[in-house]
Amino acid sequence: MKEFKPVKEGKVREIYDIGDNLIMVATDRISAFDVILKNKITKKGTVLTQMSKFWFDYTKDFVPNHMVSVDVKDMPEFFQNENFDGNSMLCKKLEMLPIECIVRGYITGSGWASYKENGTVCGIKLPEGLKESEKLPEPIFTPSTKAEIGDHDENIDFDTCVKVLEKAYPGRGEELATKIRDYTIGLYNKCSEYALTRGIIIADTKFEFGLDENGEVLIADEMLTPDSSRFWPLEGYEAGKGQPSFDKQFVRDWLKANPDSDYNLPSDVIDKTIEKYKEAYKLLSGKEIQ
Ligand SMILES: Nc1ncnc2c1ncn2[C@@H]1O[C@H](COP(=O)(O)OP(=O)(O)O)[C@@H](O)[C@H]1O
Ligand SMILES: [Mg+2]
Repeated sequence: MKEFKPVKEGKVREIYDIGDNLIMVATDRISAFDVILKNKITKKGTVLTQMSKFWFDYTKDFVPNHMVSVDVKDMPEFFQNENFDGNSMLCKKLEMLPIECIVRGYITGSGWASYKENGTVCGIKLPEGLKESEKLPEPIFTPSTKAEIGDHDENIDFDTCVKVLEKAYPGRGEELATKIRDYTIGLYNKCSEYALTRGIIIADTKFEFGLDENGEVLIADEMLTPDSSRFWPLEGYEAGKGQPSFDKQFVRDWLKANPDSDYNLPSDVIDKTIEKYKEAYKLLSGKEIQ
């Protein structure tokens, strides 16, 4: 049997290169405050992979995507075991565009920080008097460049996005920037409206797009998971303050209250966190994670 080693190990995900395709594996690792915790959150990887699958299916007629299969039977033999079953996605290998496509429907995080400073986010002027976590009149596209390892991603305005893409793809900058902006806003609208009917506010999210062998734009990476998005419970939502995170709130609260824990969570916090991930998946997809 041919063995594979990940070509990339991120904080949470591992990527395997199997030729024309990639296998993206979501592990059960969890990070909070930018640190990887000592504990594993059993099935978190499966929840995240199945959630991306749900959204890729939900939006496939609107934007083509990189997903080929989440069935390990479609993967090389090395992957056909419980370590990969459920948490792995076989994807088309693409040439990734060097832009992180962030969309915000609510004002929070670095967007809120920028707005408080000068009333704008990524060059977009917002109405005066917005409160923290308030819904924006319309979702906004706030791209950033993909930083080299170690650097922080840099927020850019739309014109800079055009320039970055023009440099990478001469003659296609305007077309590609417009396309990924319109896809990003369109996907956010469609999916956040749906999530709201299931009791979840998607405050913001990040999409990544790539080009296939014909130069077509596909959505890639993970899609609308709690790792790439801010999910808030609709119940109890109120502008004017920070909102609890749907999935990591127990973890964050406990870590703050236990600064000497060395990032080692007790089992009840782990259990509650697992339940939150499963609950988010069930609310959105109507299905249970086995
Ligand atoms: N279909 C794809 N083809 C090629 N690369 C992809 C595809 N989907 C996602 N990627 C890339 O795989 C990588 C996933 O790594 P990740 O664990 O998210 O770490 P990071 O975001 O820090 O690079 C990202 O660089 C992402 O752009
Ligand atoms: Mg990433």
